[in-house]
Amino acid sequence: MAVTIKSNREILLMKEAGKILEDVHNQLEDFIKPGISTLEIDQFGEKAIRDYGCIPSFLNYNGYPASICVSVNEEVVHGIPKKDRIIKSGDIVSLDAGVIYQGYHSDAARTYGVGSITPEASQLIQVTKESFFEGIKAAKPGNHLFDISQGIQTYIEENGFSVVRDLVGHGIGTHLHEDPQIPNFKMKRKGIKLCAGMTLAIEPMVNAGAYDVEWLDDDWTVVTADGSLSAHYENTILITETGYEILSLSI
Ligand code: MF3
Ligand code: CO
Repeated sequence: MAVTIKSNREILLMKEAGKILEDVHNQLEDFIKPGISTLEIDQFGEKAIRDYGCIPSFLNYNGYPASICVSVNEEVVHGIPKKDRIIKSGDIVSLDAGVIYQGYHSDAARTYGVGSITPEASQLIQVTKESFFEGIKAAKPGNHLFDISQGIQTYIEENGFSVVRDLVGHGIGTHLHEDPQIPNFKMKRKGIKLCAGMTLAIEPMVNAGAYDVEWLDDDWTVVTADGSLSAHYENTILITETGYEILSLSI
């Protein structure tokens, strides 16, 4: 599938999808606390999405059984919410969510420390978020896609962490996953030239230890191979004439 340039009408719908998702994440941030189960997080998030008249993008996507991916500590992404997985103080919890608004998707992830976490865990969360902002400094027409990738990786490695290689970001629009794939690490090629009207989900996944990951037997949950902590941060962005706009975060 070719990389699509969104029309003005489509961009308005994607902006709305992004605003709704930002609010869903803000509600989830207030909800998450020690003692709740990952299933309760999913149920709360699904209701918040449906209260907006939206559809959760992830529910039943390739068979994924929930609306919110909840990934705790060494889980990198795609953790499956469970009744008996209880969040406790000291955990770091990545929440990944997507909404469909009038046929258009937005996709965003945040990682939160619950209660009191170690200085290393809080640095991991912060560096992961900052790497997204470092990467998108290169997001403007005329630059190449992999300039973003390189910016993300350089920042993560300068800070002593490692970037996951087996999963990447993606174009987004009428489908959750559209072309192009967006690695969070340097490539030999430059990648496509960025153009106004492209909508992209940029999502660094960062490990405190080595970058290697494994899949659990549930076929979804991705974990660090060495058991180290992992964090995830993602927003849906629009390439504009002069740079970018973040659709799932107002700053
Ligand atoms: N942000 C993730 C991604 O782009 C969320 C997908 S979870 C899935 O892959 F369950 F929908 F696959
Ligand atoms: Co995504």
